[in-house]
Amino acid sequence: MKITEKLKKKLGPLGDHAHYAHGYYMYPRLEGEISNKMMFNGSEKLVWSLNNYLGLANHSEVRKADEEGARKYGLAYPMGARMMSGNTKLHEEFEAKIADYVQKEDAFLMNYGYQGMVSIIDSIVDRHDVIVYDSESHACIIDGMRLHIGKRFVFRHNDIEDCQKQLERAVRITKETGGAILVITEGVFGMRGDQGKLKEIAALKKQYEFTLLVDDAHGIGCMGPTGAGTGEEQGVQNDIDLYFGTFAKSFAGIGGFVASTKEVIMFLKYNMRSQIYAKALPMPMVYGALKRLELMRTKPEYRQKLWQITHALQNGLREAGFDIGNTNSPVTPVYLNGSIPEATALVSDLRENHNVFCSMVVYPVIPKGMIILRLIPTAVHTLEDVERTISVFKIIRKNLTEGKYNTVQTSN
Ligand SMILES: Cc1ncc(COP(=O)(O)O)c(C=O)c1O
Repeated sequence: MKITEKLKKKLGPLGDHAHYAHGYYMYPRLEGEISNKMMFNGSEKLVWSLNNYLGLANHSEVRKADEEGARKYGLAYPMGARMMSGNTKLHEEFEAKIADYVQKEDAFLMNYGYQGMVSIIDSIVDRHDVIVYDSESHACIIDGMRLHIGKRFVFRHNDIEDCQKQLERAVRITKETGGAILVITEGVFGMRGDQGKLKEIAALKKQYEFTLLVDDAHGIGCMGPTGAGTGEEQGVQNDIDLYFGTFAKSFAGIGGFVASTKEVIMFLKYNMRSQIYAKALPMPMVYGALKRLELMRTKPEYRQKLWQITHALQNGLREAGFDIGNTNSPVTPVYLNGSIPEATALVSDLRENHNVFCSMVVYPVIPKGMIILRLIPTAVHTLEDVERTISVFKIIRKNLTEGKYNTVQTSN
């Protein structure tokens, strides 16, 4: 059979839902200015789906900088990879500034967080090294490890005892191979909102020799007294050897960075294949990122507002008896029980009758019978948005427990 024929038959575990979900539950089109309210399916919805944590996406100064960057440089400049012909003073200036922000010596820009993480992992370990990683690691970490030909050991999510057990195994292997150990975890886990146990993992450095790589995609800009991330929040930024952040979330842009010592960054500049063999991040992205970083550093009020909304939402949901797990970040999951047809009917009710838009997570991403409604508070939400959402959630929970979503026919 031809590959193209095979692909028509099986769309994969997510694609299996495409026949009823495409364009509505998956690949929905949110339109209009990025804010707390956007257009979906022709009417305005209160949106809780965007990682626009600090509200920078549509900030007037950010929009101005993005326009200026595009006007001054166009999207083409610089041409080529950084190493060959695509380096600029502005790229280097940004790297120095972001390194300073996250309290590291130096940094290296990446075109995408996802590809960057894959490439960081690929470049820093060899066949003799062992990777020890959290079981709920993001796909970019998993895919980076797919390129690793040495051993890797997974520890149960945030389970430090198990992490230690895997470190013991790693030590035994590296004694034989002469390799080293890389531990990878996340600052904030984007699905459940719980922070990685960076402090406890850092403490293991007293007993074991390893390098710590942290994906802080959801932490940068949000966590810590200055927004420098989850390492700052937990007082262990110095123990993070390689600190990774993306511009896809609180920066409300695109691209990412990795920060570390001067030596490590120099190594990455000459070994990270996603950057060596790909065109540099376009200048308007860098120009815009500089403005975003400036706002992040000089306007703590955006972070304060984000946390005000986060606390109001999470406290309100808890007081109303909702299970929001053990989140300790802005990411707010609401755990409910129900089948996939019930979940789709519930989300459709939320969107069509209550004008609330949030993301839904069901099997196979999480166990069968569980529904997660994932809410992302931002600095552009209001306390009124929070109140309305909690009232609506009470209604949909009542409907769900009364079996009302059972009667709705879906084609699943
Ligand atoms: C934890 C985590 N790491 C990495 C990424 C990938 O970043 P990017 O969107 O910049 O490719 C994401 C998602 O955006 C993420 O949630």
